[in-house]
Amino acid sequence: MALSTTPDTATSGQDYHDVLLTLSEGSVQRHFDPYLDIPWDAPEFAIDRNDPRWVLAPEIDPLGATDWYRSLPLERQIEIGRWRIANSIKVGAAFESVLIRGMMQYIMQLPNNSPEFRYCLHEMTEECNHIQMFQELVNRIGDDVPGMRPIFRALSPLIGVAGGYAWAILFIGILGGEEPIDHYQKAIIREGAHLPPAVVRCMEIHIAEEARHISFANEFLKEHVPAMNTVYRTVCGLAFPLAMRWLAGEIMAPPPSFARTFDIPRSVIKEAFWEAPSSRKILSGYFGDMRKLAGDMGLMNPVTRTLWKVLHVDGDESRYRSEPERRTTHAA
Ligand SMILES: [Fe+2]
Ligand SMILES: [Fe+2]
Repeated sequence: MALSTTPDTATSGQDYHDVLLTLSEGSVQRHFDPYLDIPWDAPEFAIDRNDPRWVLAPEIDPLGATDWYRSLPLERQIEIGRWRIANSIKVGAAFESVLIRGMMQYIMQLPNNSPEFRYCLHEMTEECNHIQMFQELVNRIGDDVPGMRPIFRALSPLIGVAGGYAWAILFIGILGGEEPIDHYQKAIIREGAHLPPAVVRCMEIHIAEEARHISFANEFLKEHVPAMNTVYRTVCGLAFPLAMRWLAGEIMAPPPSFARTFDIPRSVIKEAFWEAPSSRKILSGYFGDMRKLAGDMGLMNPVTRTLWKVLHVDGDESRYRSEPERRTTHAA
């Protein structure tokens, strides 16, 4: 299989090893436990299913931006918003399970003394905690949400294992999942965290630990991809925008049962995911850091640039990591 060779960590630069050691030590020094660090039973963390803060914010959620949603009675907006938020939390947990499966497959073929082996295990430990934290939150919200769309859910065990062999694609895919979730959660906090406190606390913990995960995936790809041969680099260049678009859809768009449950017209779902200009802006806004990374690795050329554009994941490159979307302040 293409991209299946074990990375030669012996040729990795010392700087890269130092970065991984710093990240590993960061995981030891600063990490969260889903039960020690979240006061689930504190009165202010109780879930109020009728809390108006479940209403979807138009700047952050593409469905929340539709006229159809805005014109619903408040109770219905709350009900739909609560289900959608609970489902996106469940989707996040499912994505992390795929990440763990792929990463475990990948590290067990690494040589002794690989710095990646240690760091990846720290990351998987954190992802296990996130899955537990997210599932506890979903249980407490109380909607029986399915999470991932059915095909992705069915394929997820295979995707994880395949990713362990196609490890460069695996780490591109990891970023394709982590970036939209991270952008979405950061946007919520930046807009004033108008969500129930238990949800906000989980997001804060997640953002804090994801910073390391995203740094690692960036460093990993920058270390390994430029050293690959032309064929591998070409595959990575094409896979990059495809993975971003595919995973943004899997993670941020709801499963079909959502529209059935709430009688949402097909035209509204299409508008929200991702035909409306405002939703396209949200979609492309997830990936400013990824466009910069692809450029830094020499993966942007006329062909791949066209692919980013056709898939609607093109746009400005971030000037610094996690830069808030510039297009919200001036015309696209
Ligand atoms: Fe996570
Ligand atoms: Fe992560």
